[in-house]
Amino acid sequence: MKAIALTRYLPIDNPESLQDIELDIPMAKGYDLLVSVEAVSVNPVDTKVRAPKALVEDEPKVLGWDACGIVIATGESVSLFKEGDRVFYAGDISRAGCNAEFHLVDERIVGAAPESQTPDQVAALPLTTITAWESLFDRLAISLDADNSQRSILIIGGAGGVGSMAIQLASRLAGLNVIATASRPDSIAWCEKMGANEVINHHNDIATQLSELGRNEVDYILCCNDTDTHFDAMVEVIKPQGSICCMVDSRESLDMNALKAKSVSFSWEFMFTRPKYGTEDMIEQHHLLSEVSRLIDEGTLQGTLGKTLSPISAETLRAAHAEVEQGGMIGKLVVSGW
Ligand SMILES: NC(=O)c1ccc[n+]([C@@H]2O[C@H](COP(=O)([O-])OP(=O)(O)OC[C@H]3O[C@@H](n4cnc5c(N)ncnc54)[C@H](OP(=O)(O)O)[C@@H]3O)[C@@H](O)[C@H]2O)c1
Repeated sequence: MKAIALTRYLPIDNPESLQDIELDIPMAKGYDLLVSVEAVSVNPVDTKVRAPKALVEDEPKVLGWDACGIVIATGESVSLFKEGDRVFYAGDISRAGCNAEFHLVDERIVGAAPESQTPDQVAALPLTTITAWESLFDRLAISLDADNSQRSILIIGGAGGVGSMAIQLASRLAGLNVIATASRPDSIAWCEKMGANEVINHHNDIATQLSELGRNEVDYILCCNDTDTHFDAMVEVIKPQGSICCMVDSRESLDMNALKAKSVSFSWEFMFTRPKYGTEDMIEQHHLLSEVSRLIDEGTLQGTLGKTLSPISAETLRAAHAEVEQGGMIGKLVVSGW
């Protein structure tokens, strides 16, 4: 089968940073589905894993953790899917990625693809949807049963992949007042389209802008970008007894004592935790993807696809990595077809 892989960790403008190779088709065992991959999305995790370093792999390493495809074989323990089903999933960072014609994935972290969407549109969804859902409803523990109309959330980095889905889930599903951040006319317009009530600029003082909107404090903060730079502002604007969730590693130590006076809860989100550690509740990723699939088909949520490149090859994936690495994505970048 065709696959795109690396053995050395090189700058993306080096043609050897990602290469076209041939691999054997793997066999599905246990809970695994063998999926014929139709489209993949490129996320910052791909560029972070590929980042230049001295390491050399003995075997080709296949990246890619966001896919849409058709199930073509199933392991003996599979009960949720059958051959012919179109599925979507992010997968498991500790296994081979989906930048290959055929790919193995544990059915417990897979959802049935929304029927109203093309494979390109579907591939844009899983990784960021899982991240946004787990951040809002597991880490920040926002209740879908509560009346959230008097509560507010600040979503930092609103136009990116995660922010695009988080804005929709927070506003359209949870009924929160959403203040998103974006810095350019196009990304501001995108946040508004996703359902943000207000948009402020993450390059300017966040506390001042919130106070100009008449909102000195927010109940929740989801930080999708640059934890270090935004930490002090988050401490300043979070409401006493509020909750903050971050998903990007800090480069420096964060001062957790700064959150004590307000009794603020702080959590990390890492969407690979469930598959990486095989947690007892890893099937929650199947449940949440299935629910989002339903919500997209009924029109409550909308897709977040920004741009598609084609076909899936080392050349197009290098172009996609280069674009994601620049940090200015609006919605998602998908690479589709063989
Ligand atoms: N822990 C996890 O499970 C997890 C999962 C997914 C992603 N992540 C991480 O979360 C980050 C975001 O992922 P993503 O897929 O949403 O990325 P993305 O799509 O590449 O994000 C691009 C967006 O970031 C915004 N941005 C750029 N600089 C910013 C800053 N200093 N402060 C706030 N926003 C800024 C840009 O907005 P403007 O153009 O308007 O400036 C742009 O719209 C990445 O670091 C990724 O690795 C973590």
